[in-house]
Amino acid sequence: MATTLRNLLSKFSSVLLIILLVSNCCFHVEKSFAVAAELESQHFHTLEISSLLPASDCTTFTTNTKGSSKKQSTLHVFHKHGPCSQLDQDKSGSTTTIPSLKEVLSYDQSRVNSIQTRLSPNTNTNKINDKKANLPAQSGRSLGSGNYLVKVGLGTPPKYVSLIFDTGSDLTWTQCQPCARSCYQQQDPIFNPSTSTSYSNISCSSNLCSQLTSATGNTPGCSTSTCVYGIQYGDQSFSVGYFSRDKLTISATDVIPNFLFGCGQNNQGLFGNTAGLIGLGRDTLSIVSQTAQKYGKYFSYCLPSTSSSTGFLALGQNGGSRNVKFTPFASSQGTSFYFIDILTISIGGRQLSISQSVFKTAGTIIDSGTVITRLPPAAYSTLSSAFKQLMTKYTSAPAYSILDTCYDLSNYTSVTIPTISVTFGGNAKVDLDPAGILVLVDSSTACLAFAGNSDASDVGIFGNTQQKTLQVVYDVAGGKLGFGAGGCK
Ligand SMILES: *[C@@H]1O[C@H](CO)[C@@H](O)[C@H](O)[C@H]1NC(C)=O
Ligand SMILES: *[C@@H]1O[C@H](CO)[C@@H](O)[C@H](O)[C@H]1NC(C)=O
Repeated sequence: MATTLRNLLSKFSSVLLIILLVSNCCFHVEKSFAVAAELESQHFHTLEISSLLPASDCTTFTTNTKGSSKKQSTLHVFHKHGPCSQLDQDKSGSTTTIPSLKEVLSYDQSRVNSIQTRLSPNTNTNKINDKKANLPAQSGRSLGSGNYLVKVGLGTPPKYVSLIFDTGSDLTWTQCQPCARSCYQQQDPIFNPSTSTSYSNISCSSNLCSQLTSATGNTPGCSTSTCVYGIQYGDQSFSVGYFSRDKLTISATDVIPNFLFGCGQNNQGLFGNTAGLIGLGRDTLSIVSQTAQKYGKYFSYCLPSTSSSTGFLALGQNGGSRNVKFTPFASSQGTSFYFIDILTISIGGRQLSISQSVFKTAGTIIDSGTVITRLPPAAYSTLSSAFKQLMTKYTSAPAYSILDTCYDLSNYTSVTIPTISVTFGGNAKVDLDPAGILVLVDSSTACLAFAGNSDASDVGIFGNTQQKTLQVVYDVAGGKLGFGAGGCK
């Protein structure tokens, strides 16, 4: 009550204020209320429910890079579906099917399952499995579909393609003409290497070819002395094609010559209408490693709170990260993932009592492609019950897919939710944006945007919903990850 009073005071008209004051009668009561409310309001967010929905038009984020650092290149980041993406329209201009949230969450679980499989020491079958370049049916990487995209130029002259950006994988690839086996439908024209004067194939005998094994989890193949890559993402999604190099254009002034990527001749799966994927993992073939000389293995991004605004992906460092809190990377365990440590979680200003061993058991990765954060079962159940205790005012609603802490908000236009902050190793305490706490599953039902792993030995994943609006800084060379508030809207 006290909390909502304070929030209402700041939010609503004096008519409502008078009603509330009258209903609370006495002045001294009102005064102590105000003090308590002052303290507590820091621990709650009041937001319009509609603010969790995307607007109908796209708002473009503008970077405020003061003194425009030459060492940094910035790209717009936009959600695969929504007003900032043109990918929902096919060539005839009609709208293609946008996956429902249920489908998104089910793809999300596939991605999580495949991450768990890749990280589980006993089931690492991909690497031993195939000497040929044919792909095992049971997969390694999965895409999910809560993806964010960037548009880059490839070749000379540059042809622009929208690629999913993925911190959970390494190889960058795009569909290529002549699509010898199969290309799915994409929005941008399919890249044609024969029209690029700077394109070349990598030969099977090159030691670059052998780097594909760690970058893709598959031994490369060879076709008339051209190195052939194959990468699969779970859910039967895959890309197979020529390993090649060409010029990558990030902006008019930022060009990476000889960028190594996959020129996909056989591509299938959940890539939407995107042209492929850009890999930001730790492996030697990721864009981060390939541009180490130029950008110092430093990149940052901001994922917008809804699909109607854009964020950014910046390669390299600029001066503008003063309010960023850093946490050291934990051991990567030899994988391309970025591991970090969660120490604790606070909700409504109170630290949850979760034993540190709960997070230590399997560790945590940060992933741009997983939608919903996965916590160890003991941590999730503690968080969920604390959230329920602070949300008793609202009527609970049935579980929705992997989300089991849901509310019927049909009687409300605004909702007051507790703040949630996550404390990472090195005591980096990061406050989540309201869009990282509550997800609207239909016009009147909202759920806590976290899920529990089914097993305590499954790795935790800090997903992209919780990263929304934060400036997320990967100082890979410096061994640390940073979070800054208000990176984008
Ligand atoms: C790349 O290799 C493929 C397969 O060997 C070949 O068809 C294609 O012409 C080559 N492209 C170039 C530019 O060498
Ligand atoms: C909405 O308000 C009506 C009238 O007060 C009440 O009967 C109903 O149970 C409320 N519904 C929910 C989901 O809170």
